[in-house]
Amino acid sequence: MTSPQPLLLEPSAAGIAQAVHRLMHEGLVAFPTETVYGLGANAASPAAVRKIFAAKGRPADHPVIVHIANVDALDDWAIEIPATARQLAQAFWPGPLTLVLKRAAHVPDEVTGGQSTVGLRCPAHPVAQALLRAFAASLNIEATRQPHRALRRPAGLAAPSANPFGRISPTSAAHVAADFWNTDLLILDGGECDVGIESTIIDFSRDTPVLLRPGAVTPAMIKYVIGISPAMPDTKAPRVSGALPSHYAPRKPLALATANAIAAIPASLATQTAILAFHMPAAQRFAWTRQAPRDASLYAQHLYAWLREMDVSPAAKLVIERPPRTQEWSAVTDRLNRAARR
Ligand code: TXA
Ligand code: MG
Repeated sequence: MTSPQPLLLEPSAAGIAQAVHRLMHEGLVAFPTETVYGLGANAASPAAVRKIFAAKGRPADHPVIVHIANVDALDDWAIEIPATARQLAQAFWPGPLTLVLKRAAHVPDEVTGGQSTVGLRCPAHPVAQALLRAFAASLNIEATRQPHRALRRPAGLAAPSANPFGRISPTSAAHVAADFWNTDLLILDGGECDVGIESTIIDFSRDTPVLLRPGAVTPAMIKYVIGISPAMPDTKAPRVSGALPSHYAPRKPLALATANAIAAIPASLATQTAILAFHMPAAQRFAWTRQAPRDASLYAQHLYAWLREMDVSPAAKLVIERPPRTQEWSAVTDRLNRAARR
């Protein structure tokens, strides 16, 4: 008997068609987005969404984001959408922004984690766009064959990041294949992700917009569009697994350190240590090194690939130099802090 394994496909017309076929039959499809790869299933099918949770080992009460093809599809999944939320969708979609809104009645509890809200995002990656459009077309061709049903069926892909729960998010098809080597899964290979860290999440389900997860769309960009900065989350903020203190974690212990502390690592420990730093001590022989770029976007793009490399390097301990304490580094610093928490 052969065990299940992932099937890696080029995102050609034939590859997209095969992926849609899987989605129509409650299967799982991993696909590239501009942020990270997603582990997708038909968001309208509770059975399909449950397969995501089983594959990831994710607790059932953690909600998943529904990916949609365009701004118009907002009203298929959410109700009582504030004007400011629509303005943000108009400004940043398709793009790395997720809006948490009041859910429409039909949205399965499996998607929302039983909460009264749904997270919606329109991804910009051309493969994600092609997949969403082909899936919507397929759903609606089927609907016209069953004329007693509603003519337009909401098309959305429930998709968390395609990694085991709590681990490092994938930014290439190879990362997904390595993490799900024994899962029945189709992976569309769209190359390496541009943004590299997960979308900004803004909660619009309460009185004022709240930043649940920092990302490439910054508070300053949001303020530019809607006139106010999102508030920081308080204790009433909804459950966000990406907001758990420990997340995006490598298997080996990771510490954040100053340049001085890194320079002071003794030679005896250096050979067992992997270093990602802006200032690399020239004298030491470390187990693995990477000179960190000074550009926060470039750093974010490669961060998860580097964390994965460090994790499989001969090093026993991982050390990363703390980025500057400025706004432009806040999303990267957020991920580093969580990756370093045990
Ligand atoms: O960039 C991204 O957002 C990627 C790509 C694949 O789109 N997706 C992603 O999904 O990061 P995931 O599941 O790894 O993280 C989504 C976060 C989780 O922390 C989840 O708790 C939160 O979004 N979330 C989803 N729906 C929510 C809701 N209704 N209310 C509050 N948080 C929600
Ligand atoms: Mg995730």
